[in-house]
Amino acid sequence: MTDGEERRLVFLEAEPWEREFLAKRAPPGWQLRFYPDEADRMPLEAIQDVEILSVFIYSDLDAALLEKLPRLQMIATRSTGVDHIDTAYCRERGIVVSNVPTYGANTVAEYTFALLLSLSRKVIQSYQRTVREDFSLAGLRGFDLMGKSLGVIGTGQIGRHVIRIAKGFQMRVAAYDFHPDPSLSELLGFEYTSFDELLTRSDIVSLHCPLTPATRHLMGREAFKKMKKGVWLINTARGGLIDTEALLWALDEKIVAGAGLDVLEEEEMIREERELLTERFDAEKLRAVLRNHVLLKREEVIITPHVAFNSQEAVERILITTMENISGFVAEKPQNRVA
Ligand code: NAI
Repeated sequence: MTDGEERRLVFLEAEPWEREFLAKRAPPGWQLRFYPDEADRMPLEAIQDVEILSVFIYSDLDAALLEKLPRLQMIATRSTGVDHIDTAYCRERGIVVSNVPTYGANTVAEYTFALLLSLSRKVIQSYQRTVREDFSLAGLRGFDLMGKSLGVIGTGQIGRHVIRIAKGFQMRVAAYDFHPDPSLSELLGFEYTSFDELLTRSDIVSLHCPLTPATRHLMGREAFKKMKKGVWLINTARGGLIDTEALLWALDEKIVAGAGLDVLEEEEMIREERELLTERFDAEKLRAVLRNHVLLKREEVIITPHVAFNSQEAVERILITTMENISGFVAEKPQNRVA
């Protein structure tokens, strides 16, 4: 690294309050620049001299885009998941990639139960009814979590926290992970099973593994066929873990009784829909996009806009770790490296 001139550190997808928070913690000698946009939705000339780039999950940093940033040495993603970054390309080009591995284990796990309880106790339907000043109970009976079988797929930081909470509800827990941790199962009192066994046993399945080529469409038609009739599905991990078409089929077949989804395949489209409501697109386009998302209209499906991470405490932890990752890289001691 050279001294003398100011180095370029760019934050994309940055909210106004984050600027001040980050600026206070930046390493000396770096010029910070902030943009609200995603990398693939802004003119890259504005940042082509960037040396360290920090993004959230909506910047799709593929090889074609990264080739346009010739001075880039490091990417600090403000997320756990790195499926939006071509890490193989980064490794090849010697670009260091750091993530934030543990900011929100409790945060995402708590939200997992927010979705599950919303489904199990029909919280949304109940609320919608009282808003209409209707206080009747017909059709609002839910079910207890106590005694139900929860199947947790992925027992990493988030999955294990989900298990802790589930134990508090006195649920029976089985888990599947391709790297089982026997000491964890003993400590928390749950059982590791095969993927298929978990599917056949569980009343509720919750996904907590990363999206990789091996896990894409993990929940496809074959998996749904093995599940208990009336199973509930929660996904706070990544949309691509579920084959949406297969899920629609499983809902139609009443194999899946309902689903709580914080993440969706083609999440970008949904985000665009939100923008369509307020911005530059016409109503016909909006209707066309909405037609593609039959899921959104189903009463037994709750969809939220990828907010499981989004507590104030978690977001601050993300920013603090991101700055530590950047300072570590600047001091030639990179941390939380994924490439
Ligand atoms: P982690 O890396 O601590 O745990 C992931 C676990 O999945 C590990 O135990 C790993 O062995 C297991 N795993 C990996 N591949 C597998 C496979 N093919 N089959 C079965 N198990 C497999 O990750 P963490 O922190 O628990 O996060 C999990 C995922 O949650 C992240 O990858 C991310 O995509 C998602 N996430 C979503 C958020 C949201 O706001 N909705 C926020 C944070 C994370």
